[in-house]
Amino acid sequence: MVAWSSLRFNSGREIANRFVIAPLTTDASHEDGTVAEEELEFVRRRAAGGFGAVISSAAYVEDDGRSWQGIGAAHEGHLSSLQRLAEAMRAAGSLAILQIYDGGRISKPELIGENRMRAPSAVASLRPGARTPRAMTADEVEHLIASFRKAASLARKAGFDGVEIHGANHYAVHQFFSPRANHRTDKWGGTLSKRMNFPLAVAQAVRDAVGPELIAGYRVTPFEAEADGYKLDDARLLCDELAKLNLDYISVSLDDYRKSRPAGETRVYNGPVEQTEVPAESPITEIARVIAGRSAVMASGGIKTCADAEGAIALGADLVAVGRAVVVDPEWLAKVRSRDEASILAGLPRDEREIAGTSSIPPRMVEYLLSRPGWIPRL
Ligand SMILES: Cc1cc2nc3c(=O)[nH]c(=O)nc-3n(C[C@H](O)[C@H](O)[C@H](O)COP(=O)(O)O)c2cc1C
Repeated sequence: MVAWSSLRFNSGREIANRFVIAPLTTDASHEDGTVAEEELEFVRRRAAGGFGAVISSAAYVEDDGRSWQGIGAAHEGHLSSLQRLAEAMRAAGSLAILQIYDGGRISKPELIGENRMRAPSAVASLRPGARTPRAMTADEVEHLIASFRKAASLARKAGFDGVEIHGANHYAVHQFFSPRANHRTDKWGGTLSKRMNFPLAVAQAVRDAVGPELIAGYRVTPFEAEADGYKLDDARLLCDELAKLNLDYISVSLDDYRKSRPAGETRVYNGPVEQTEVPAESPITEIARVIAGRSAVMASGGIKTCADAEGAIALGADLVAVGRAVVVDPEWLAKVRSRDEASILAGLPRDEREIAGTSSIPPRMVEYLLSRPGWIPRL
């Protein structure tokens, strides 16, 4: 089966199998952006299953771009925390990849302070209670690109095998690409090609910072559901340009890998599957086609079994990122490997007090997971 075979990235790094732990924010880091011991335990236990790679929770690159209480990769003061994280992620032989992000218009005022929120344009997101950000100056845009570069350099120093740019899920890099969030009239906005400038500049900066021998990846949302959002064709063009930068992989972020068309984001784990048949027009297939082997393709969303992994691979993915299934069952991969899928835990314990202990989930992360009904299944 392909899922258990190795793959060599453009950088020359080899991944032992196609299973990757998806980036999973814990909301449980120390206030200064250093990693908490419970987060290291969360990662170590899950990585012990032998994943080919582990991607970290998203690390902020600037203090004013924090969307939750997570890890930072913003300055030298974060270096030893990043070193400890890299060590925990690779304890069982996985490649360790640091995901880096900026929150832009979905940063959290409680963390960054009132009136500090900056984004491509002064347009609020549609999220309930969203505040209107301030439009970034051209200098601030350049500064943010430099902050991504610096974060990638810190990752290299800390011993990571690579860096993933969080260009998905409505955070700042996604915002620059989105006609809904980016109304700029300078070189960073306006036409589709100008809206690509920021994502491409960040990708180039990260590639330069990590050098040719570390992994550089980019996570993309393949389409926006809203009528005025970007379409799969736009994302295909972006991925084509990203592939020219010799990225090691492009990761397609979906809430269900079987999804073939834009729909409002559903975060319900056991919600109805939109389509059970392999759709001809899967965004994974479309993006894999345009990338045409120049970078690996990673897919995610609703991967719960080995058959799901093979299903995503059949659609054109080379790698699969697994999120909630490994949150719920830390031993998920060991069970998949030993063909003992019947014993995979279907949900977190019903008794909330049991969750942190039995599942090695930081208590703050338990609160975070339970704050959105249906996001994570319960027994
Ligand atoms: C608790 C939690 C935290 C997440 N944090 C991140 C993150 O930091 N960066 C990111 O790109 N995606 C994040 N995601 C999205 C996951 O990586 C994944 O794409 C999503 O959960 C769908 O895959 P799944 O069905 O396997 O969970 C998070 C998801 C969950 C459940």
